[in-house]
Amino acid sequence: MSSTSILGYCRPGYENDTANELTSRYGEAQCYGYPVSKKNSGFILYHLYDAAQLEHTIKQFAVHESIFPRQLVAVFATLTDIAKEDRVGQVLEVLQDIDKPFPIFGVIDVEYPDTEEGKTLAKFCRKFTVPLRQALRKAGWLTAKENLGKPKLHIFFESFETCHIGYTLPNYASPDHLGICRLKFPSDAPSRSTLKLEDALVNMLTDKQQTKVLRDGGRAVDLGACPGGWTYQLVKRGMYVEAIDNGLVADSLMSTGLVEHHAADGFTYRPQFGRVDLLVCDMIEQPDRVAKLMGDWLVKHWTTHAIFNLKLPMKQRYETVVEAMTVLKGRLNALEDAFAVKVRHLYHDRDEVTVTIVRTSKDEV
Ligand SMILES: C[S@@+](CC[C@H](N)C(=O)[O-])C[C@H]1O[C@@H](n2cnc3c(N)ncnc32)[C@H](O)[C@@H]1O
Repeated sequence: MSSTSILGYCRPGYENDTANELTSRYGEAQCYGYPVSKKNSGFILYHLYDAAQLEHTIKQFAVHESIFPRQLVAVFATLTDIAKEDRVGQVLEVLQDIDKPFPIFGVIDVEYPDTEEGKTLAKFCRKFTVPLRQALRKAGWLTAKENLGKPKLHIFFESFETCHIGYTLPNYASPDHLGICRLKFPSDAPSRSTLKLEDALVNMLTDKQQTKVLRDGGRAVDLGACPGGWTYQLVKRGMYVEAIDNGLVADSLMSTGLVEHHAADGFTYRPQFGRVDLLVCDMIEQPDRVAKLMGDWLVKHWTTHAIFNLKLPMKQRYETVVEAMTVLKGRLNALEDAFAVKVRHLYHDRDEVTVTIVRTSKDEV
């Protein structure tokens, strides 16, 4: 088996979707290979037919431009049958025989899958990092001081006996350990769902986009708002929110004076005071129906920007998302404005993906 591959970390259970996405995207870019994955393992390997294409392949798109991967690592070596004693020595021995892919690396990260089994490796990985870092510095693989501007070396233990060694490049990678950004649940928020929208706001929008989309004093509509976790995030940022749902919105939000609750159907509701800055939607509905509704609001200028979830079916999840998004993007492309569109399976998402659509004028792109 080739050890030159792209390693994609994902949520356990999403290996097939990650494999389908990488096979399709890298295939389109003529970076041919084949995926290998195990159900619920939390990662996949896309083995390249041509080892010389590794850097070219990892530069095809950044992880934040993909849907299911949490991190994408360019793997150039795999160790199997690692003995218990002197694991550092075994890693160094392999590296000695390899042509360095870059003159020097700026950081190392020792990682493991985000699974129950992976958790048993966490403590070992943490402890292993210190002696390995020292040894790599001595061997000239790592800068004396941490340097985030240089490629990062990843040692990914899929078990105590097998590890993959690879790299990520600064602008293409997630900066987070395991590709996971854990957020603290705000104790005054009405539901855990609040973390989904916060994750989207901080990890999918650039600082500039956040300022633009979340204008203090701006207006938003939240479709499927109850009990109010998403509305909470918007109110926290000083926005006025029309919260649409037949359920109840938390009193703590109603008492802010920034929320207007309408017990109405999200599919027929229209903004009360004309165009809003932001439409958000977390209704549990078919992805194509939600995508069509979001398109209507954007095309008809009822909203400037939109952030929403597409709830995923059990099977063919990648294909379902691509289908819904292709139709929506087709409608947006026909407009005068330009749109920055991202789709991500975020750490705080469950069986759903999050879509952010930020409107810009065509000259800004
Ligand atoms: C996942 S929950 C939303 C949770 C919310 N985002 C939060 O953070 O608290 C989905 C909500 O969508 C509402 N919903 C489903 N279909 C709807 C529709 N057609 N119109 C309005 N609300 C709808 C449900 O009543 C439910 O409260």
